[in-house]
Amino acid sequence: MTVVNGQQLMGNREDRRILPTSAQRQEGKARFAIAKGMATGTATAFYRSTSQIGRDLAVLAAAIYRQQHGRLRVIDAMTGCGVRPLRYHLEAGAEWVWANEGNPDLQAVLSANLHQGMAPDTYRITHQDANQLFFSCAQQQDYYDLIDIDSFGSPTPFVNTALWAIKFGGLLYLTSTDGRTTSGHALERSVQMYGACARSHPAVHEQGLRLLIGCAAKQAATRGFHIEPVFSIFNGSIHRVMVRVVTGSWQDKHYGFLAYCHSCGQFRTADWRQLGQLGCEVCGTAPVVSGPMWLGPLHDAAYIAQMAALAHQWRWPQRLQRLLAIMGEETAMPPYYYPLAEIGRRGQMDVPARDRLIRRICDRSYRATRTHLDSQAIKTNAPLAVCLEIARSLRAG
Ligand SMILES: C[S@@+](CC[C@H](N)C(=O)[O-])C[C@H]1O[C@@H](n2cnc3c(N)ncnc32)[C@H](O)[C@@H]1O
Ligand SMILES: [Zn+2]
Repeated sequence: MTVVNGQQLMGNREDRRILPTSAQRQEGKARFAIAKGMATGTATAFYRSTSQIGRDLAVLAAAIYRQQHGRLRVIDAMTGCGVRPLRYHLEAGAEWVWANEGNPDLQAVLSANLHQGMAPDTYRITHQDANQLFFSCAQQQDYYDLIDIDSFGSPTPFVNTALWAIKFGGLLYLTSTDGRTTSGHALERSVQMYGACARSHPAVHEQGLRLLIGCAAKQAATRGFHIEPVFSIFNGSIHRVMVRVVTGSWQDKHYGFLAYCHSCGQFRTADWRQLGQLGCEVCGTAPVVSGPMWLGPLHDAAYIAQMAALAHQWRWPQRLQRLLAIMGEETAMPPYYYPLAEIGRRGQMDVPARDRLIRRICDRSYRATRTHLDSQAIKTNAPLAVCLEIARSLRAG
């Protein structure tokens, strides 16, 4: 057990530490506290060090945007303690950040943090509802390169309004902590929040990302816009997607349904015209159908490669570069994955070794990769029956 500032640190994970809330923390180049003063009743900002990966990826993407466009004006609509404005400014080179936080009790800590790390003419702090902020931007024709919505629950109530405040070509970063809904445990709510039916199956972590992107794509389409995912990440409990908002025609082929056969375990995709005649392509059983959702790429492979190069240049930890490598691999794969445990259960055998299984599937001229969504899963265009056969042969060999 370690002692810092007279307080005990428990375990290795920073979130479990009992740091005084007024203590200075560091993440990237940002130094900040999550509360101002030690007085009882002091408002404490919501901050999780375990969410750093989502902020790291956003900073990389923002920095590349800044390099490409020569400018970066950001709205951080739900800023908490202000760690994101600090990082967008200090690391990604944002020349101006609007830091908004709905809770006015966080004013003291937020302004102290930004005052410490940013010049006065590089930011603005407000305390209003995020939707009001987006409306006022639209009214003043004040459009932004990056809008970050780090909400609790689902961000869908803010997507449409954010689209009124974003520049063409700009980046919209959405966070959802609503995994219960997107994993098929709250069907009515999935229809309410995503305009889609979310059913339960072995690839629900990916479904959470695809429902979120699909919702943004649909909302953008009503305005004549088109979205392109830059990156998508699921970190074990939270779904985050960064999408680019562009002008373009509606891409029907990327918006459809994911069907899962509980009988034989095979996934398939379907478009709107196939609804009503859907059967499992292997055994003919009626599958459970989720959607509509985004069926296109989860990431922009070229952008991911640039992010990886920048992470390398900045000497960021290897694990982040490994994550980006896996994200790059999975970009062009089908919109689902097979957990190894599911392969073991279906084949009534021990769980096969992931990398050997991937190699053998590729030897058979199918595509197969790891996935960042589950380290114990594979993505492949091989039918599940082929995966089972290969997994069995691996055990026999
Ligand atoms: C998940 S926390 C933000 C954490 C912060 N972005 C970070 O990375 O550490 C969400 C914040 O949004 C604020 N919030 C919730 N609803 C809001 C709304 N409708 N408009 C503006 N802020 C809101 C909450 O007070 C809370 O501080
Ligand atoms: Zn089947």
